[in-house]
Amino acid sequence: MKKFFLAPSILSADFARLGEDIQKVIDAGSDLIHFDVMDNHYVPNLSMGPMVLESLRKYNITAPIDVHLMIQPVDNLIPQFAKAGANFITFHPEATQHIERTLQLIKDHGCKAGLAFNPATPLNFLDYILEKLDLILLMSVNPGFGNQSFLPATFNKLREVRKIIDSNFLDIILQVDGGVKVDNIAEIAFSGANSFVIGSGIFKFSNYNLIIQEIRKELKY
Ligand code: DX5
Ligand code: ZN
Repeated sequence: MKKFFLAPSILSADFARLGEDIQKVIDAGSDLIHFDVMDNHYVPNLSMGPMVLESLRKYNITAPIDVHLMIQPVDNLIPQFAKAGANFITFHPEATQHIERTLQLIKDHGCKAGLAFNPATPLNFLDYILEKLDLILLMSVNPGFGNQSFLPATFNKLREVRKIIDSNFLDIILQVDGGVKVDNIAEIAFSGANSFVIGSGIFKFSNYNLIIQEIRKELKY
């Protein structure tokens, strides 16, 4: 297995040229494409739904798509996202009535399942379902918007989750999302993350190759 998974968040991409912009970050060396779904209910913003993902697959985007659902309720849209071409589907535990059922629904539709924690969401949502997870996402900003500042309390939370994963000998991706930039990514990796969602930290630059090279240099991979 590869050590790090770089996941550009297309929330900061140019929506008028989404397919092209995504192909560019893939060519520059991304591992996953992070697809942020917002419903103006669970979070105070609105982004994109499964139809956009379906069109991206038709445009020939073949990279793994990591769907981050910031929606409530969760279950209704899982079949559509899976059918549209999602590889990972991650949701927030407090947005569903039945966490285990939602995880199973994702798996039944052939996708890998992730659980997302807001900065103030306690880690005890991991109890009893840890072994069902393929990915744990720690939000390092409050969800809803790109281009916010990384909350330093995330470092301790990362260390805690890394300890939980390793002490149970599990192969779960530990992803961090929000305010990740070239100048803090090394410390984030050192705290235990192995997947990095980066929106503005990539898309605000005109040369994706250059910025992704710099990020990889920081991570030494
Ligand atoms: C925020 C989203 C993030 C966001 C990250 O709710 O989940 O994926 O796009 O953007 P940056 O990297 O700009 O903080
Ligand atoms: Zn996200």
